[in-house]
Order: sequence, then structure tokens, then C-alpha cells
Amino acid sequence: MSKSASISIESVLQEDRKFPPSPAFATNAHISSEEQYQQLWNRAKDDPAGFWGELAQSELEWSQPFTSAMQGKMPDTKWFVGGKLNLSVNCLDRHLKTWRKNKAAIIWEGEPGDTRTLTYQQLYREVCKFANVLKGLGVATGDRVTLYMPMIPELAIAMLACARIGATHSIIFGGFSADAIADRNNDAQSKVVVTADAGWRRGKEIALKANVDDSLARSPSVQKVVVVRRTGLDVTMQPDRDYWWHDLMERADSECPAVAVDSEHPLYILYTSGSTGKPKGVLHTTAGYLLGVTMTSRWVFDLKDEDTYWCTADIGWVTGHSYVVYGPLANGATTVMYEGAPNWPDYGRFWEMIEKYKVSIFYTAPTAIRAFIKWGDEWPNKHDLSSLRLLGSVGEPINPEAWMWYHRVIGKEKCPIVDTWWQTETGGIMISPLPGITATKPGSCTRPLPGVVPDIVTEKGESLGPNQGGLLVMKQSWPSMLRTLYGDHQRYLDVYFSKIDGCYFAGDGARRDQDGYYWVMGRVDDVLNVSGHRLSTMEVESALVSNPLVAEAAVVGFPHEIKGEGICCFVIPKAEGGSDADKETLINHVRKHIGALATPDQIRFTTALPKTRSGKIMRRLLRDIAAGKESSQDTTTLEDYSILAKLRDDEE
Ligand code: WTA
Repeated sequence: MSKSASISIESVLQEDRKFPPSPAFATNAHISSEEQYQQLWNRAKDDPAGFWGELAQSELEWSQPFTSAMQGKMPDTKWFVGGKLNLSVNCLDRHLKTWRKNKAAIIWEGEPGDTRTLTYQQLYREVCKFANVLKGLGVATGDRVTLYMPMIPELAIAMLACARIGATHSIIFGGFSADAIADRNNDAQSKVVVTADAGWRRGKEIALKANVDDSLARSPSVQKVVVVRRTGLDVTMQPDRDYWWHDLMERADSECPAVAVDSEHPLYILYTSGSTGKPKGVLHTTAGYLLGVTMTSRWVFDLKDEDTYWCTADIGWVTGHSYVVYGPLANGATTVMYEGAPNWPDYGRFWEMIEKYKVSIFYTAPTAIRAFIKWGDEWPNKHDLSSLRLLGSVGEPINPEAWMWYHRVIGKEKCPIVDTWWQTETGGIMISPLPGITATKPGSCTRPLPGVVPDIVTEKGESLGPNQGGLLVMKQSWPSMLRTLYGDHQRYLDVYFSKIDGCYFAGDGARRDQDGYYWVMGRVDDVLNVSGHRLSTMEVESALVSNPLVAEAAVVGFPHEIKGEGICCFVIPKAEGGSDADKETLINHVRKHIGALATPDQIRFTTALPKTRSGKIMRRLLRDIAAGKESSQDTTTLEDYSILAKLRDDEE
């Protein structure tokens, strides 16, 4: 950071391709003209209370109208004060009064190939029954319920059942260990855990109940456990504590009045890993969150009643909460849910499912896209993907090469791609193309949605001009933003609001180009500082991935006597590559694409990269390896521990 404070991060990515939407897509889209977008965006900026207040009235069903749409400034804005509503009513009951009553709400496929479809009426019935089950177990409005489950319909049912009685759910991704469950149960003081015997993953049973058993010795707040029988794996059931889902459901009443809760009533806690220390319990409340996911689902995915919409995220992550369950159901859409791995029984599983269900909107992550590229075009090419009309990406910056592949091989050059930037904390999509109007550029999440007022600033909070990299902040509150970190409001203020005065900052670096498009460069913690140049790791990675030898790359800095930081590149080669000559090729390739300042000091070939379960590369672990240190970092979110050992073995 020896450079002046006016430029924080230098941007070196050059990308000039542009893809406007087809006139046909534009004509039918929910937001269909630039003027409409400008008008919505300006109105939301100048009069957020009026803008969101009108939408909340017209788009949500209320038990009691709110008296004030917006109160107070960030970081403690309250939305729709005085109003009461129920989220499950908004996702279910209101559709039952329409023709959607018998429309498919959830089309589910298990990894072994078993399927279930729940219409809105059927889903409503299951939700009411399970809400009664929870009440029977002593869960009251305001209590916390932990859900540690595979991707099966019962997970969505349990979420909506919690919402129906005003209980706050805390979903823990099924890959977390017993310790992680215990920590989260304790932090939330959960009363009940809902789990399954096991789930399927690449043909193997992933035991869940056993982990819950193990965690309960250390989480004394939990009184009852409900277990779905999914795979038939043997489990121990402790009398008076553990109950089978099917036993309880058999006896449950199928009507359950919905509890009308305050707009700001806690809907869920979702733990997200902090860079240090214990996970952060991001808290979302009811009305603002619901309005945010309802509108963004419609604007960004252009959701229509005829669509078959598939978001491949696990519900254990925020993307699954907002865009597998709540957003689509609030819109009365049909949402596809899949239990297992994309490469089971073969690499064609996703494409087979798209063909089978005639999926029209497909939303996945760059990490998956890079895996598809590696597995080869022959897999998608075997299937009829002509039902697709829109593609989405989330979770990381998408490298332009991966974007072009997605556009060409999956979208057949006719589907708009929405590269959606958002975070667990933002609740819903913030910066994204609007598929009917935005000319997309590969690698850019383009422009802010209505109600989102971002800026790019220096460490001192000064706005930066076009193409200057800096910190991405939000200058105005929005309804679906997190309200606090559960049980630690001070940490909430420190983490998000102490860095830049009056702004929300959650850690990403970005630049805005001459057209006002945003290019997210990754977490600022990941920025390299090479001889005083602050470079985005993502841009060096994109340069590497644009070489045909490379399937995937992760770049980190390591202490360097002369340059301050050197550049270490972990590279997964495409074929059986990985020779010394290949290293030279790649070093030259990066020099040519970015310049001598970005010349890699080390190229390390590897067969895998450490990733979180949601697919993000854990650069802090790689940094330790590059620096030759034993890692003392929190690894509870690491997908596959063995990868760490493997990377060390790969060291020269
Ligand atoms: C990154 C996932 C670039 C970013 C919804 C953010 C992205 C973090 C994008 C949040 C994108 C997510 N382009 N970067 N389209 N989407 N990110 O909380 O660094 O799991 O801060 O939420 O992912 O990750 P989270």
C-alpha cells in the first residue's frame, strides 16, 4: 500500500467483448427498456421509502399494513415498521387462491434418480403438518431451530414450517462436522435439530444423524431431534429425544394457522465464515428480505409462470435460501431441486436433467462451470439444451474464458448470462445484468439493481473515477440487508461499518468502467502487493485460465525480499500437462497478457485446490502453503481436508 491512497488496486484485465440481449428477449422481459431501468433506479435512490413502500404493498400479502416504510439510517434501518405478515403465507397460501394451486412448486430429483413433485397445494399441506410437529415438540415463535439436512424436499418444508410459526431457522450445510454443528447450535441456542439419517453424494451415504449425535454432547440447548429417513442408513434413536419425521407427520394436523409476525421478526440465521475467529451469524428478518428476494428473482431471472427454474446451489448456502426456496416460491414459480453431485453417475447429470425437465433458467457457480469445461464439451453436447433461455452465475468473479464457454456451449449463443454479485449479508442480488436490457461483458456483473447505490472508494472513502480499482461499498440501505450478527451487534458494526464512514463494506475490491459497469476483483484480503502495485488475484487467475493448458488456477502472494510480495500460482492443468516447459509457457503467457509486473514467481501444478463447500478457493490456506507455513487457520469450511496434505506433497 505504498502507493497514494487515490488508487487502491490496479486493474489489468482487458475485456472488450459485448453481448446485447436479443430483441425477442427484450420485448418480453419484466424490465424491457433502458428508460424503465433508469426511472426505477433513480426513483429508488431519491426516494427509497416511497419506492420500496409501494412495492411492499403491491407485491406482498400483509396481515396488518405497515405504518412507515423505512426508519433510520444504515446501519440500523428498519423496514415496513408496524406491519405484520407471514412468509409462508406469501410463498404458499396466496397462490392457493389462484390457478397455481395445482402448479408444481418443487420438482425434486434424488441422486439415485428417484423423483418427487410437490404442487403448491401439496407443499402447503406438508408445511402445515410439519409446523404442527414443531409446535408439538415445544417450538414457539422466536425459538431457533437448526436444520442439518440433505437437499431433499423436507428441507424446504422445514424452512417454511419454521416461518409459519415464527421460529428462526439456522441451516447448517450437510458437509459440516459435529464441532461446527455444536458451535452453531450453541451460538443460536437452538431448541430442536431437524436432520436425516444420511444423504447421497456420488453414490455414497453421507451420514448426518451420527454427526448430530456427536454434536449434542456439546450443545445442551437442543432438546429434540427429528430425523428424516432418506437412505435407510442405520442410526441410533435416543428415546424421548429423537423422533422419526414420518411418525410425527402421520399424526400431525394438516391445517396450521400462520403466525403474523412483525416485519423485522428474525427469519433466519446463516453462519458464514469470517477470515478469523468464530463464524458470523448473519441475521435476516422477514418483510425486507422477502421483498428483496421476490423482486430480484423477477427482475434478474425474468421469472415467468411458464418457466422451469433450476438453481443448483445447496440450500445450506444463502443462494439456496434466497433462490432455490424463498424467491421462486414467493413468485409462484416452479423450482427444481437436486440432491447430489453434478458428476454422478457421469459428467452429464446436469445436462440430462435440463433435457428431462426442460429447464428454462439455469443458475450455477463459476467453480462448477470450470469443472464442466474440464470434463469436456461432449457431455453437454449429448443433450438437448434448447429449453434454456437464461443462464446465471454466482459466488465468485467468473473468468471471461469460463463466461465465453457458458455462453457458447450451454447457452448456444442465444441465452443472456446474468452474472450476479451479492453476499450472504446482502440477502439478495445487488449488482447484475437485467437480461432484457443489459449488454453483457464477460466477467462483469454490470450495473446495480434498483435500490442499490454502490460506489468504488479509496481506503479514505473518496470516490474513484472510471477504471480505478478500489473498495466496493454500499451508500444506501436496502430492505434485504442483514440486520445484525446474531448475539453480537458490536461485531456487526465493526465488520461492516467501521472501515468507510457511513457505508456498508463487506470486503470486495472492484472497479467501475467507462460505461458504469462493475468488475468485482475478489476479496480485498486477497489483493497482491507486488513492488507497490496492488493487483487482483482474480485477474492473474483469469489470465492463466485463458491459456489452453489450464483448467483452474488460484493465485496468492507470498513474502518476497525484493518485491514485497511474490506471485505464486497453483494451477490445475487440463490434460496430463504440468511439465517444466509448461511452466515457462504460463509465465510468458501471464507476462504477455498483463505485463512484466505480474510475472509469476512460482507455478505449482496440482490436481486439486482447497475450496469451501460453496466452491470458493480458500486462498488464505494457499498463502500459508506458498509461504511454507503450517496452517493455523480455521478449516471448518474446507471441502476436502485431504487436499491440503496433497498440496504440500506437490511442493517442490
Ligand atoms: C463473491 C454468495 C464476483 C464476492 C451469494 C462476495 C462474487 C462473496 C460474485 C459472497 C460475482 C459472489 N462476481 N464475486 N457474481 N458473487 N461473489 O456470502 O467476493 O457466499 O463478497 O454469497 O462471493 O459470498 P457468499
